[in-house]
Amino acid sequence: MTRLSVNVDHVATIREARRITEPDPVTAAALAELAGADGIIVHLREDRRHIKDRDLRLLRETVKTRLILEMAATEEMVRIALDVKPEMVTLVPEKREELTTEGGLDINMNKEYVKDSVLMLQERGILVSLFVDPDIDQIKAAHKVSGDYVEIHTGRFCEAYDRVEEKRELDRILTSVKMASKLKLGINAGHGLNYQNIKSLTGIDEIEEFSIGHSIISRALLVGLDRAVREMIELINLPA
Ligand code: PXP
Repeated sequence: MTRLSVNVDHVATIREARRITEPDPVTAAALAELAGADGIIVHLREDRRHIKDRDLRLLRETVKTRLILEMAATEEMVRIALDVKPEMVTLVPEKREELTTEGGLDINMNKEYVKDSVLMLQERGILVSLFVDPDIDQIKAAHKVSGDYVEIHTGRFCEAYDRVEEKRELDRILTSVKMASKLKLGINAGHGLNYQNIKSLTGIDEIEEFSIGHSIISRALLVGLDRAVREMIELINLPA
């Protein structure tokens, strides 16, 4: 079966809109696991705009499936990962001003540095995945720096504005999957996947795991709103 790991960053984003203690991404992670998620993903960003060090520490104690840490390959983040020891680290590029991770890593730009980070993490028993665009050169580069996995960036496919572009992006994903498979890299995929577009990718057997955040947290908000409103109406009308 193809695995699903759930990214709970957006729960922390809502919490940080008020800078209080709820909703707690740690609680959301436990619920996602109870529903069958195969892993919990968080992105600890340099600016700590959503997930905090406290969340990561608590998740390390409470996650029963697998904890996957998305992070930039910086000295600070590598130090934190070596300390927290998630089951997997996904190395991503990070720009301070972006709303979300915009593109895949350009491994060739920082090959030696990325390789050193990969090896340090692997020595501690952490699997390392590299988040890359569906581009043959990047897949080969991920293999060269000894990555265990690639996570193929599905964002451009998900944002395609017409069928022609969608087909072109799907072809790029398929070609990248074949190359990664040939190089014996594990294959994950994510970014922008939702309840409609996922259907185009579920037939690709080589993909071991989907990494999904936004669409699941958005849907949870909408499917949960009816119950939340009813519960408040009940409370308001309880006899004093
Ligand atoms: N994979 C990576 C590397 C990401 O940075 C993100 C966004 O945090 C995701 C997957 C999940 O993307 P989405 O929130 O669009 O499902």
